[in-house]
Amino acid sequence: MMRSRRGVLRTSAAAAVGVGALGVVGAAALRGESGHGKWTPAHLRGAVPLPYAQVVSLDLATSEKHRVDALRAACRSVAAADGGHTAAWMALGADGFPQVADAPRQLKRMPTFAGDVLDPAQSHGDLLLHITGTSARAVSDATGRTLRALPQWDVRWRPDGHRPENHTEQGRGLARNPFHFAEGYGNPDTPTETTERATIKAGQGEPVWAVGGSYQVIRIIRLATNFWDRDTVHQQERIIGRRRDGRWLDGTPSTEQPAFGADPQGKITPLDSHVRKATPDRRNPPPLVRRGYNYQRAADDQGLIFSCFQRDLAHGFEAVQHRLQGEAMAKYTLTVGGGYFFVPPPGENWLQALA
Ligand code: HEM
Repeated sequence: MMRSRRGVLRTSAAAAVGVGALGVVGAAALRGESGHGKWTPAHLRGAVPLPYAQVVSLDLATSEKHRVDALRAACRSVAAADGGHTAAWMALGADGFPQVADAPRQLKRMPTFAGDVLDPAQSHGDLLLHITGTSARAVSDATGRTLRALPQWDVRWRPDGHRPENHTEQGRGLARNPFHFAEGYGNPDTPTETTERATIKAGQGEPVWAVGGSYQVIRIIRLATNFWDRDTVHQQERIIGRRRDGRWLDGTPSTEQPAFGADPQGKITPLDSHVRKATPDRRNPPPLVRRGYNYQRAADDQGLIFSCFQRDLAHGFEAVQHRLQGEAMAKYTLTVGGGYFFVPPPGENWLQALA
């Protein structure tokens, strides 16, 4: 039964790849809140990302020798789109760096993880533009203006994202995902801890120019919401390992730590539940910050534009992704796209390292 659910998801995703369906994807982004000013890089601004987003993956359309100039143009256009009702940033894929550049040490093409069916038309890219805003209109206007200013780049994929019920609770940004669960409780509740997890520091082995930057991972994850919705809420909560509203299954309030140690066999919170696989040791939360969006391109084609930031890709996303193998939720999900990107530090000085 479970297998056939995944089979259906896989088949329809493969069909979408076959007809070359353009990825509707979404985006992730971050916003400024009062007291947490514009000096904060757009991707980490505020506890809760702005509710609407577009993620645009681009490839260089001109000759390789113009790459740095094209990146400078992108940097300026994105800076122009950052402010007011929108927050915008850019990030580079592994192929986005000139050959000679001292690239971030861990940046590579996103590998295919167990169970992924990556659609080339929704994966990778030289450059990512991430534009978020207070309304879908503000985002599409800003994205349109930005792309018109960048003829040196061709669009590869461009999904829309939305965060329903976007709000902050005790310092954390929360939203409702397509499986009806509150998402965001596992994130840090202070700007200091957010920066600590997400931002490259001096002395961690990265090029000097990359200090202040961040690795961003996008995963376009299709969710079998029709099958999910046939399960009872109780079954769903055992698959996630939290209640829909974020409370833990052992009754611990949502913003406190559950006692997994008192439940070694997973009778209350199953060992293959999402949160237990993601963070088995509650004293050591994974060093990443999640900022995802929901996407919907058809009634039966919706999911998550999962997005996370970290200063160390291997200890952040990759460690968690490996731990999640075998989780109960895998039967309802299929990753069809995304990529690994590097958000440069604010300003344009970093471009000198690429010239
Ligand atoms: C397949 C789609 C996914 C869904 C529907 C989903 C849903 C959720 C939900 C409902 C929570 C609990 C609330 C919260 O802490 O935010 C959660 C927690 C978490 N998820 Fe996911 N997630 C998905 C994919 C991923 C992926 C791909 C990763 C990373 C590789 C990930 C990493 C985490 C982490 C680190 C936590 C926090 C665990 C904790 O410390 O309590 N999730 N997710």
